[in-house]
Amino acid sequence: MKILIINGPNLNMLGLREPEIYGRQSYADLCTFCERTCTDLGVACEVFQSNHEGAIVDKIQMAYANFDGIIINPAAYTHTSVSILDALKAVALPAVEVHLSAVSEREAFRQISYAGLACEKTFAGLGFEGYRRAAEYLVNR
Ligand code: DQA
Repeated sequence: MKILIINGPNLNMLGLREPEIYGRQSYADLCTFCERTCTDLGVACEVFQSNHEGAIVDKIQMAYANFDGIIINPAAYTHTSVSILDALKAVALPAVEVHLSAVSEREAFRQISYAGLACEKTFAGLGFEGYRRAAEYLVNR
């Protein structure tokens, strides 16, 4: 089994970025966490990050026939991007949405998730642990 983990804009700034919300660990720490988690679960993974909506759409399209599932934290594109939603629907791979923060307890504009409409599950507010829960879900599914 091979899982694609996609992280959206500004997640490369983890550690520096609003640490009271997103924590003090860096994006490199998150990549290490995801890779170790997948190794522990006996699955292969690729971790991808982009600040560009089109690059995320391209990556989701590329996942078709190359990956068995997608874990996606679309970051701010969660709340705006119909093209990421459409790409997830197009490839029709099992997908899980992750957010580090508890988006449901934050601003009104964060209450809509387009990508989430194409995901089987959402884990939010668990920090890095959300990625582990998402990977476990895909493996056990
Ligand atoms: C986020 C939540 C989004 O609302 C925000 O725009 C992000 C990160 C999270 O992981 O909590 O960039 O997806």
